[in-house]
Amino acid sequence: MLTPVLSDNWDQIRSWQLASYQRSGGYEALRTALRMQPADVITAVKDSGLRGRGGAGFPTGMKWSFIPPKDAANPKPHYLVVNADESEPGTCKDIPLMLASPHTLVEGVIISSFAIRASVAFIYVRGEVLHVIRRLQQAVEEAKAAGFIGKNILGTGYDLDVVVHAGAGAYICGEETALLDSLEGRRGQPRLRPPFPAVAGLYGCPTVINNVESIASVPAIIKNGPDWFGSMGTEKSKGMTLYSLSGHVTRPGQYEAPLGITLRQLLDLAGGVREGHELKFWTPGGSSTPMLTADHLDIPLDYEGVGSVGSMLGTKALQIFDETTCVVRAVLRWTEFYKHESCGKCTPCREGTWWLVQILERLEAGKGSEEDLETLLDLSENIMGRSFCALGDGATAPITSSIQYFKDDYLAHFENGGCPFDPMASTVFA
Ligand code: NAI
Ligand code: SF4
Repeated sequence: MLTPVLSDNWDQIRSWQLASYQRSGGYEALRTALRMQPADVITAVKDSGLRGRGGAGFPTGMKWSFIPPKDAANPKPHYLVVNADESEPGTCKDIPLMLASPHTLVEGVIISSFAIRASVAFIYVRGEVLHVIRRLQQAVEEAKAAGFIGKNILGTGYDLDVVVHAGAGAYICGEETALLDSLEGRRGQPRLRPPFPAVAGLYGCPTVINNVESIASVPAIIKNGPDWFGSMGTEKSKGMTLYSLSGHVTRPGQYEAPLGITLRQLLDLAGGVREGHELKFWTPGGSSTPMLTADHLDIPLDYEGVGSVGSMLGTKALQIFDETTCVVRAVLRWTEFYKHESCGKCTPCREGTWWLVQILERLEAGKGSEEDLETLLDLSENIMGRSFCALGDGATAPITSSIQYFKDDYLAHFENGGCPFDPMASTVFA
């Protein structure tokens, strides 16, 4: 049933090395792409239906086509930037991908840069994952030595330099325009959009920014054709993707599966919720996407399916929580994260996340009242849609959805005068 696009060579010995990658057909797609016109590579990616895997699901080929033509009227250089600053709570797909097969990403970077006529590409990796940075640097060096990066790549006259850049550990630098500021050497804070990076990005030049998984999907599309890729998944959410299962699940890990698979099917592959327990709540795409419950086990995990029940597919970080978990405690943890990572640029998020934490702490300690729930919803309403970037909106998702589905958990805290859950029963918080 499953046809891997990204993980097909992960079980090979030393899968991260060039020789191993080439034994699995690595860099054949590059040879094919370099024989094509750049515009035809963009058309192939458009026709495949690939949508951005960073969370928003924007069509990748369409984003590339916004890059203006390079001519006398548009002399500025073009850049490709890979967003490898994976930091969303629960999100852990890009880091395993880069560790297991960095050359899949590097090959995707070269093909994508060729398509948008960029001669410099950056891979912006979160600074804490030194082992990933080293592995990527090694892969880039191997690709250079093999003639896949550098001057006159494979004798085609195409030149490309690839830079692996380490961030400094701020969640906000995963927001694409904050990432650009950081890459330019400034404090990472979001810029006003529009203009979108495709028009004015790095150093004010046309820039494509894509997530690791999006770029790593490109070699398979070129090698096997857009129809092959588009034949997997659903009508509007095409292809294979990585779902990351974590928390109270028997076999946590990365599961490559077609878009549109359900959580019930993924749990079957992953051995189910840990033995003797049952599903209480889960996130479709990290903590910035509204949580769902056991009633949503059969919704298709694609952009439309998850959207139809008021959540978002996001990063496909499926965090599974069983009945031992205190939802109030989980929401407090996440909200503390957003408060800490708020960049402080806009008032609704900077002040709002501080207040959310104050109220949630009171509620979790059993000292709150039902009125506090109204205040949480009111604050969330004033943050949502009024913040400068998606971080503020994301901070409200766990709050509003937990009150929608688990109001009784909040009420039990007042009635109990404290948390009614045993923290030692939950492996998540123990
Ligand atoms: P967005 O929907 O505003 O933009 C998505 C992409 O499409 C961007 O690259 C943007 O430049 C491009 N775009 C959108 N409209 C455009 C237009 N008219 N012209 C040209 N380009 C256009 O989403 P945003 O704010 O960039 O990202 C939010 C997503 O990020 C959320 O869905 C969330 O799931 C995800 N996220 C992922 C994290 C991770 O660690 N991977 C961390 C936090 C959030
Ligand atoms: Fe900064 Fe938060 Fe405002 Fe985004 S929403 S600009 S992270 S303060």
